[in-house]
Amino acid sequence: MPKFKTILVTGGAGYIGSHCVIDLVNEGYDVIAIDNFANAVGDDEGSPALRKAEEITGKKITFYKADLLDKPQINEIFDKHEIDCVIHFAALKAVGESMQQPLLYYQNNLLGMLNLLEVMRSHSCYQMVFSSSCTVYGEPETLPITETHPTGSITNVYGRTKYFIEEMLKDLNTADKNWNIISLRYFNPVGAHPSGLIGEDPTKEFTNLMPFMAQVALGKKPVLTVFGNDYNTPDGTGIRDYIHVMDLASGHVAALNLLNDNHIGLKVYNLGTGKGVSVKELVTVFERVTGTKIPLKYVDRRLGDITAMWADASLAKEELGWCARYSIEEMCTDFWRWQTMNPNGYPKKNVKSSVIMNGTS
Ligand code: NAD
Ligand code: UD1
Repeated sequence: MPKFKTILVTGGAGYIGSHCVIDLVNEGYDVIAIDNFANAVGDDEGSPALRKAEEITGKKITFYKADLLDKPQINEIFDKHEIDCVIHFAALKAVGESMQQPLLYYQNNLLGMLNLLEVMRSHSCYQMVFSSSCTVYGEPETLPITETHPTGSITNVYGRTKYFIEEMLKDLNTADKNWNIISLRYFNPVGAHPSGLIGEDPTKEFTNLMPFMAQVALGKKPVLTVFGNDYNTPDGTGIRDYIHVMDLASGHVAALNLLNDNHIGLKVYNLGTGKGVSVKELVTVFERVTGTKIPLKYVDRRLGDITAMWADASLAKEELGWCARYSIEEMCTDFWRWQTMNPNGYPKKNVKSSVIMNGTS
């Protein structure tokens, strides 16, 4: 099979996408990034996150402001570039919003994926890495959780879009053996690029633990609300498998390498560290490495939250040759560096971007 050269990254201006682009460019791939800025800072002049990625790598990144719901626009991009593989990050991901606006989530995440797959097929591009989530497992029956654990008993609409897409990919793989797809089930992505130049800066409100805790440390929020201290865990708080965003990025490069060399049909891998960390433990490490004090307020459990979830990541180690390398301390340190260097996130106006828009400099 020919070596991939050009990779299309959907959602490339977003949190995980912008970090992954750095590793892809450093690996020598030509990257075409697209994003509609539904949840990323940017405008007609481009994406500040990708401009920083260019600064970090010293390489140009081609960018299109494009919406996956606009099929002709996606088709044009495929007409213009010979794309070997797609890494599909673009999706809406806010759990609360997905419960209030299910049609928006089904339309964006499912129709966006359908459009993309159809355009790919019409251009004979059959290689894809898809961003799935550990959320597809629902409440774990066993821990650590392996890829063979049942999926589907999910309590929120966002999670169901990931599950439905995984089911769709199974049907596609059964019907047409040309496809070569890896679905990566991420655990809890945190941290930022160690340079402090790029990090997480969503335009929609965020509710995840680490960004919220950092807002408290910066004095922008008065207190961290801990959702439940009566779980059946050693300290009573919820346990998750936090993974550094740069480890996720290297997981995508490993997935590309596998697709490059093999026809595997459809495979699913957990990307996690294999270690469970409680809310209280994460707060303690964060306070220690940042030298801040996080005031806590214990409240009732959050609706839909599970008690504990951590990965068995041995399949990714065996078959992708990948494992997570960053510690919890590094996740907190890097996230805090990004937050303190950019307390208001990316510049929101007059973004002078050197990224190429619509194929022209
Ligand atoms: P993000 O919101 O930062 O990035 C997603 C990007 O996709 C955003 O920049 C958004 O503007 C873009 N987008 C959304 N709909 C689009 C459309 N129709 N056309 C073009 N662009 C569109 O989120 P992220 O944290 O970087 O997540 C990336 C992927 O990983 C998503 O699919 C998400 O569901 C999945 N995931 C994320 C987490 C997490 O906690 N961050 C966990 C598991 C899985
Ligand atoms: C959330 C999403 C999940 C998604 C995952 C990705 C929900 C219900 N689930 O999961 O679909 O795949 O992000 O990372 O939103 N916590 C607090 N106080 C806070 C925020 C969180 O105590 O202000 C606790 C939570 O109860 C949980 C842990 O911190 O125990 C992690 O929460 P969070 O970062 O929101 O991630 P998940 O709940 O795992």
